[in-house]
Amino acid sequence: MERTFVMIKPDGVARGLTGKIVARFEAKGFTLVRAQLMQVSVELAEKHYAHLKEKPFFGELVDYIISGPVFAMELSATNAIQNARSLIGATNPVNAAAGTIRGDFATDVASNVIHGSDSEESVQIELTNFFGSL
Ligand code: TYD
Repeated sequence: MERTFVMIKPDGVARGLTGKIVARFEAKGFTLVRAQLMQVSVELAEKHYAHLKEKPFFGELVDYIISGPVFAMELSATNAIQNARSLIGATNPVNAAAGTIRGDFATDVASNVIHGSDSEESVQIELTNFFGSL
């Protein structure tokens, strides 16, 4: 079993998609290990998106992720990282296949409903950043 970090972003929580999205992960075979509804601080947002600091959309990205509560989750499954990324779909909803979360629930790359860690290293960093422990 592998674990991963997944976060429903403010637009997903505000639109009432949390239950539907958690149900998709559970139906696929993921186990919910930890979860919390939380407000992201500017510091945490800047740390989480540090790899995008030089991008022109960085300011908007930080503003968006702090705009309302997020639902942070630790999920466990076989190949959890890759399986979660597959369920989530492409970064830009225009390219996200129907049947994926972004394909079904998002239209705009700037508010694409959900985040999923992309590597084992990111999982460790993001679980620590969001839950305060591994
Ligand atoms: P990134 O880490 O590249 O993608 P992913 O979330 O699929 O791992 O980008 C982080 C977020 O930044 C992405 O979910 C949405 C936002 N973003 C934009 O707003 N505009 C863009 O052109 C890109 C590439 C990302």
